[in-house]
Amino acid sequence: MSELVVALDVPSQRDALALVDLLDDDVDFFKVGLELYTREGPGVVRALHGRGKRVFLDLKLHDIPNTVARAVASASALEVELLTIHTVGGRRMMEAAVDAAGPGLALLGVTVLTSSDAPEVAEVWGRPVEAVEPEVVRLAGLARAAGVPGVVASPREARVLRGALGPDALVVTPGIRLPDDAVGDQVRIATPQAAVAAGATHLVVGRPIREADDPGAAARTFGQAIRAADAAPGQQARERAET
Ligand code: C5P
Repeated sequence: MSELVVALDVPSQRDALALVDLLDDDVDFFKVGLELYTREGPGVVRALHGRGKRVFLDLKLHDIPNTVARAVASASALEVELLTIHTVGGRRMMEAAVDAAGPGLALLGVTVLTSSDAPEVAEVWGRPVEAVEPEVVRLAGLARAAGVPGVVASPREARVLRGALGPDALVVTPGIRLPDDAVGDQVRIATPQAAVAAGATHLVVGRPIREADDPGAAARTFGQAIRAADAAPGQQARERAET
């Protein structure tokens, strides 16, 4: 089963809860990112839990192992279910994060930010980089070796990552658009159907729902598209082959 994650990319708890209240049970997770968390802190997570919602905390942690482990423990205590860390923090940082995560928390490794292209990665790492995708696969493999259960990736990379990481890995994909949606600043996009078929487990949608005239109807459309893709004969055959 693939799940719908709505990104609460809004400046305040008030705005976040106003959006949440427009959406009903089509949404599986709400993603709290740096803007909202920096403004509102853990209170916004508690407010979402108070409404019975599941929370994905997208803080992209990257620091020394001890500091990241303590932040992960804090997130576990807050009872969020998904939390991002940067894979470039290295194996020891990721292992410390995994050790600190309680049983209810799944860590997601961010590999190469989708805003970075090969020349930028080469400049930062000080070596030639011909293409980003092999770097994404390498870092995702490092995350799996450290025990990190999932990765965040563009939907265009989901298939190769599913192949590299095996059937159990969580593959979380932003950049989801219906054929008529505005693309915005996303480049590597896919429809819900294509993302599910490529092996995505969690589809992150922001602007197409938040900026819709009727966000509730938009969320229903995405939820239905995901469920239909999950139920497609090809998808069921793939899942059978994987189990
Ligand atoms: O509005 P849109 O649907 O493009 O929002 C996508 C969400 O996913 C945003 O919260 C964005 O920060 C996040 N994201 C992304 N690309 C990544 C990681 C996260 O777009 N590689």
